[in-house]
Amino acid sequence: MTYAEANRMKRLPPYLFTIMDELKREVMERGGDVIDLGMGSPDQPTPNHVVEALAEAARTVDMNRYSRRDGEIEKKLRKAIADWYEQRFNVTLNPETEVLPLIGSKEGVAHFYLSFLNNDDIVLVPSPAYPIHFNGVILAGGILYNIPLKPENDFKPQLDKLDNHVVSRSKILSLSYPHNPTCAVVDLDFFERVTRWARDRDIIVTHDNAYSDIVFGDYKAPSFLQAKGARKIGIEFHTASKSYNMAGWRLGFVVGNAEIVRILEKTKSYVDFGIFRGVQCAGIAALTGPQDCVAETVKTYEKRMTVFVNGLKSAGWEVPRPKATFYVWAHIPLKFSALNSLEFCKLMVEETGVVGAPGTGFGEYGEGFLRFAMVEKEERLIEAVRRIGEFLAIRT
Ligand SMILES: Cc1ncc(COP(=O)(O)O)c(C=O)c1O
Repeated sequence: MTYAEANRMKRLPPYLFTIMDELKREVMERGGDVIDLGMGSPDQPTPNHVVEALAEAARTVDMNRYSRRDGEIEKKLRKAIADWYEQRFNVTLNPETEVLPLIGSKEGVAHFYLSFLNNDDIVLVPSPAYPIHFNGVILAGGILYNIPLKPENDFKPQLDKLDNHVVSRSKILSLSYPHNPTCAVVDLDFFERVTRWARDRDIIVTHDNAYSDIVFGDYKAPSFLQAKGARKIGIEFHTASKSYNMAGWRLGFVVGNAEIVRILEKTKSYVDFGIFRGVQCAGIAALTGPQDCVAETVKTYEKRMTVFVNGLKSAGWEVPRPKATFYVWAHIPLKFSALNSLEFCKLMVEETGVVGAPGTGFGEYGEGFLRFAMVEKEERLIEAVRRIGEFLAIRT
């Protein structure tokens, strides 16, 4: 018996991480040593006090029950999120109406689209992007419009150059800075301009701020909600996955426009029962507890970045050093320009065992690039660049 998937499923692009996973497995089966810099899954440990909060919660009565909006833990988590926003960004939020915890921001983005899109609504998504930002549009049955992000524009969308006909049918603009995969960053002035542009055109702005804490040097990532009037037209997604190394725990949140938050919460109330309350307790501990663990995490990424970027440079592969995120967005070396990004990543994994993510996994305008995630220890990164160096030298 064969079953036909829904048409919208057929419109989804192939999930390139699955292809890379298969290649990785083949190399491992041959006894090869794989250094996996493909997925952005943080390897550093979750802070101890967060783990303890979960352990304690798991032993407490009532943790097993469904999460409820009016529960004590639920209220505490919403307040912890609002307080964190106040301290972190000087943005005051009403925890009851402008804050909604999520089972990860990926889940939130997918349900946000489902909440708002009719099948003739366009979503403007800069490309490349984190996959749920564009795949979520297809899953929800909307129309995806890619705005190319180009190095010459510092990977920022040129909103004023968009076709008026497209813009007039657009309902949502989906942004995310610090940006995965290009590592581009913006300042508050960018969000001020986006807010004015979207307000004049009646477009909802969603901003995914997953990497606001993973920043280097003097750079500070702003919140979209710091822009004047942003809360009238948009929302911001956040996650515990990166700041607190809690990717597998599944905890994120969305904040901002109360009406948008209410509608998203309505959708979720039909679909899920919220977050395991033990994880909510852990989230409260993460947001309200000591924050030096975040600085430690960032310091580790910064050191790894130095080793990797300098190592590639010594191997003759010059890549920009990012101001934020734990990725390196690398142009395919010139002598391999006959290969597309998937072909290059396949060749690299076969010859070196180093796994990168092909740029096209992040959308059409990711072609010509690949992304490395700094989610392996320093000595493994040194080994990765050594192997890449040999590979590049042999191929000269
Ligand atoms: C931009 C961006 N948003 C969201 C996520 C996923 O976050 P979560 O684990 O909260 O679903 C990622 C993960 O890599 C990401 O890069």
